[in-house]
Amino acid sequence: MKPYFQNDLVTLYLADCRDQLLDLPSASVDVLLTDPPYGMAYEGRGRSAAAIRADGSRQGMRVLRQALSAASAALAPDVHAYVYCHWESWPDFYDATSAHLRPKGALIWWKARGGMGDCAASYAPDYEVVLHAAGPTRRPLVGKRLGAVLAGFAPVPSRVRTHPTEKPVELQRLLIERSCPVGGLVLDPFAGSGSTLVAAQQLGRRAVGMELEERYCEAAARRLELALPEGPPKAA
Ligand SMILES: C[S@@+](CC[C@H](N)C(=O)[O-])C[C@H]1O[C@@H](n2cnc3c(N)ncnc32)[C@H](O)[C@@H]1O
Repeated sequence: MKPYFQNDLVTLYLADCRDQLLDLPSASVDVLLTDPPYGMAYEGRGRSAAAIRADGSRQGMRVLRQALSAASAALAPDVHAYVYCHWESWPDFYDATSAHLRPKGALIWWKARGGMGDCAASYAPDYEVVLHAAGPTRRPLVGKRLGAVLAGFAPVPSRVRTHPTEKPVELQRLLIERSCPVGGLVLDPFAGSGSTLVAAQQLGRRAVGMELEERYCEAAARRLELALPEGPPKAA
């Protein structure tokens, strides 16, 4: 299939990842970094408000399982994988991921600010969980050992984001920089507005992404055209 966007480092397909992943060369992916539909029937608010495709609970899980099966041959034996999860989808995401990779732990992206939900009778959902898993061959992470709580990465403000669940590029950069060898390949099968791809490009890594919705491919392509190399990611 012809890519929707391509430059020296990044290729983005407007496609269902369950089909497109089958075309990736075997054992080519060094880092899988993705933010699948959470299976929560998410509906955003504000300028970027929109329902997420395939986000109905059973449907979201099925898509993730099928995507991981389609991707598995393309993952290098020493791959590192990061899968964003909602706390309610964690058990299902854990099972789906551990069918292909070894779970290494849960990272917590601490957002330092509340969120929606039952404001009177629950704790503020001021974090997201990222499942970290790895392939059968051990590849050490780069840099000094970090704790599992990743702080200092502010959520993308609703007035500037182009996707309702857009992730901060700085956070994606931290995960890629620690896990992807120079010249390595990053994969995001649920690319949305391209935060993973932009981060990889800024770090000079190769990346391939897939996204089902043209409006998000368009947003990602615009961001990739503008993305310039930056300094190292900021962690607290
Ligand atoms: C949670 S969002 C990712 C947001 C992204 N992390 C960002 O920063 O913009 C998940 C995306 O997966 C896309 N999606 C859902 N099913 C898909 C499929 N089968 N293949 C490719 N993309 C899919 C949705 O359209 C949505 O944009």
